[in-house]
Amino acid sequence: MATLALDPRLNPITAAFVTGKHSMLIDGEFRSAASGKTFSVYNPADGEVICEVPEAESADVDRAVRAARNAFDNGPWSKMTSSERGRMIWRLADLIEQHTEEFAELESLDNGKPVAVARVADVPLAVDLFRYMSGWSTKLLGSTIPISAGINFHTYTLREPIGVVAQIIPWNFPLLMAAWKLGPALATGCTVVLKLAEQTPLSGLRLAELLQEAGFPAGVVNVLTGFGEGAGAPLAAHDLVDKVAFTGSTEVGKLVAKAATGNLKKVTLELGGNSPAIVFPDADIDGAIKGAASAVFFNHGQCCCAGSRLLAHDSVFDRVVEGVSDIASKIKMGPGLDPATEMGPLVSQEQFERVSGYIDSGRQQGAKIVAGGERFANRGYFVKPTVIRDAKPDMKVVEEEIFGPVVVAQSFSTDADLERLAVQANDTIYGLAASVWTRDLSTAHKMARRIRAGTVWVNCHNVFDAALPFGGYKQSGWGREMGAEVLNNYTEVKAVTVKL
Ligand code: NAI
Ligand code: MG
Repeated sequence: MATLALDPRLNPITAAFVTGKHSMLIDGEFRSAASGKTFSVYNPADGEVICEVPEAESADVDRAVRAARNAFDNGPWSKMTSSERGRMIWRLADLIEQHTEEFAELESLDNGKPVAVARVADVPLAVDLFRYMSGWSTKLLGSTIPISAGINFHTYTLREPIGVVAQIIPWNFPLLMAAWKLGPALATGCTVVLKLAEQTPLSGLRLAELLQEAGFPAGVVNVLTGFGEGAGAPLAAHDLVDKVAFTGSTEVGKLVAKAATGNLKKVTLELGGNSPAIVFPDADIDGAIKGAASAVFFNHGQCCCAGSRLLAHDSVFDRVVEGVSDIASKIKMGPGLDPATEMGPLVSQEQFERVSGYIDSGRQQGAKIVAGGERFANRGYFVKPTVIRDAKPDMKVVEEEIFGPVVVAQSFSTDADLERLAVQANDTIYGLAASVWTRDLSTAHKMARRIRAGTVWVNCHNVFDAALPFGGYKQSGWGREMGAEVLNNYTEVKAVTVKL
């Protein structure tokens, strides 16, 4: 049994949930794993075990997929009107909003992020996503198409739910990633098996209770806790699943795509990034410094779109690097649940070692560390916000996704030649996002076109909205999350031709 070392700052309601027995939602019931196995959830601020959750394996995956299949093929869900479906999703949003404080605390305890950030970002963004998607359920339109095969035809298209969807999510925004995935699936009338990240299952398990309270019929959403190989892999491979949506590493994204080939299920992937923040000399430099710092330090750099490569023009390079380093050195670190904390620990021992390894490799390969570069405190998974300069293009810290509070600064000297700069900005296997910092409209729009990435921000970074499509070019993924675009990934289009 786990030793409970709960933070006394937790609200008693949150603490009661955390210390209670945790079960998975399968076919409308809360169940243990078929094997009875559980695994431990850790507090990243001190490395202590906070609770145990069920460890789903193939048998549980199979049971959940069959429940979702049955709910899709035979259940009341598919017969519900789109308006009823939309209202249910809206109700879920209301319930999450009513429990904002509890969700913010769960995210902070489990992931390590500051509770103040979860309260104003993770939770309200999840609520907003569900509200936005609830509106789409009544707006999934087909079209009437005049065909040239003859005039005696009435032809139109229907937009239908794709079916049973497997969704596998990561730990960086546990509740928000669940929302990004569930919102469009439910709006389009699909049924779901959602596998939470093993590092951060708590908010998803609480969400499962609210899904029940909102009235979703049995089997419409099934929520599993388990590991990647034990639960994620059999879910991605399951023959009764029509589509898999994955967010996580590019490496596992490729495994998911392979696993999906067995029954040629449809695949969407939201993967890694190594996004540039590009500062031109004509930018509001103080604003760009703050923006570049927040681009990489928000959520401890554990964002797929983190501005991990800072590209600043020669003439402002030193000032920008010094400014970002100064901000880095002043960020207040501590446990997420401390209201004064601005940056908490990384999510896990594994991520702590991975990020620390990148910093060491930069140091060994001759890059200069001008801020941070070491752990904070002697327990917990804290890494100080780190600024690296003088890195060469082929160093690991430049080429790979670090996924931590580490920015690698490089300069550029092209004044007129935006083409060359775009080549430098695009010199990565990824294509998720970029930010451009300039006062020149023409530079901004020219760069926006030249950057090969799914999102380009101008004079801002990390601005998200449920209405905006988000996703990657190149090895950052397949398909888009959010916006109207995501609905294409959850629907099939049927052409109906009637001879009159
Ligand atoms: P991961 O890709 O291993 O895990 C993401 C999800 O995939 C988790 O739910 C995990 O259980 C599941 N999974 C793992 N192996 C699987 C398999 N064989 N089949 C099906 N599902 C599987 O990511 P991890 O190990 O947590 O982090 C490693 C790196 O991945 C990070 O350092 C970061 O670079 C990147 N990453 C990117 C994210 C993004 O938002 N795009 C989020 C999390 C990690
Ligand atoms: Mg992994």
